[in-house]
Amino acid sequence: MINITVNGEQYTLDVSPEMPALWVLRDVLQLTGTKYGCGMGVCGSCSILVEGKAVRSCVTPISNFNNKEIISIEGIYKVNKTVQKAWEELNVPQCGFCQPGQVISAVALLQEKPSPSNEDIDKGMSGNICRCGTYLRIRKAIHLAASKMNESENDDAL
Ligand code: FES
Ligand code: FES
Repeated sequence: MINITVNGEQYTLDVSPEMPALWVLRDVLQLTGTKYGCGMGVCGSCSILVEGKAVRSCVTPISNFNNKEIISIEGIYKVNKTVQKAWEELNVPQCGFCQPGQVISAVALLQEKPSPSNEDIDKGMSGNICRCGTYLRIRKAIHLAASKMNESENDDAL
């Protein structure tokens, strides 16, 4: 049995410990926001957030997350609303396929670097491939989210 928490809900699952976390999310839990792209850990479309880090769920067995908390795109608003709002405001997605993974990676990046430079963004997001080429809008949206998050932190400090 595997015990996991996904987006705040606890599950005990009778699945093979070797099953990639992506299949558990998509096929067992019907959380299809996390996308299957390359299946080889190179495109980033299957990224999920685990302990603040973006992780490739297509190449990670579910047993790695036993007794851990996973956040998928369906629950990312519970961790960070600002990134998704910036994505909407700047109309980042084109076809949208890569964007769940992009948002997860952006949240992880901003947790590590609250005021990232262009270079930080390019480096932090380099594992997420977008076939539609939305990279410049992604970069702008991360800057927008960073400034809004920093503003609200300053407001809280007043
Ligand atoms: S589907 Fe997992 S990295 Fe491409
Ligand atoms: S928006 Fe189409 S692949 Fe990124």
